[in-house]
Amino acid sequence: MKKRFWPSVLASLAIGGMLLTPTIGAAEEPSLYERLGGYDAVSAVVDDFAAKLFDDPVVGARFFGMGEDSREGFRQKNKNLVCAATGGPCKIISRSALQTHTGLGITASEFSIVAQHLVDTLNKFNVPEQEHNELMAIIGSLRPDIVEVEGE
Ligand code: HEM
Repeated sequence: MKKRFWPSVLASLAIGGMLLTPTIGAAEEPSLYERLGGYDAVSAVVDDFAAKLFDDPVVGARFFGMGEDSREGFRQKNKNLVCAATGGPCKIISRSALQTHTGLGITASEFSIVAQHLVDTLNKFNVPEQEHNELMAIIGSLRPDIVEVEGE
């Protein structure tokens, strides 16, 4: 028994060392959330973006009749979504994009208007190109769940 014990301990330590070495040695790549500037930056971006949506002459109609409380809920849900999707420490508090938007008949051009507002907001906040493109790719990945009417 004694003979077998130490070799197995040594083998475990060696394997453990191999597993630990890369994580100890390498600096972790900061998440998109961190590179965007963390929660305050995400929050400011969503506030600006949401104001543009509510004021828009076309898509603003979609949010007509929402009171300030509902608008605040909409902003908070989007903040949590962006925070979580970019690797931040938030919990998603909204329903899925598919569930929320199905039946609204959202058109491709409405989606483009909304995406353009986000582009304008990111430019206003001087978000660098790399982070800008990464965030737009995440938003773009939701498009199939949101757009129901192509070609309009
Ligand atoms: C561009 C990507 C989009 C994202 C990330 C997004 C995100 C969200 C989120 C998180 C909610 C709240 C869901 C919930 O209540 O659980 C929501 C609701 C909603 N979205 Fe979007 N959305 C997007 C595009 C659009 C577009 C293109 C339109 C139409 C112009 C739209 C119209 C709405 C409407 C009308 C609601 C329901 C508001 C309410 O009554 O509470 N969304 N969206």
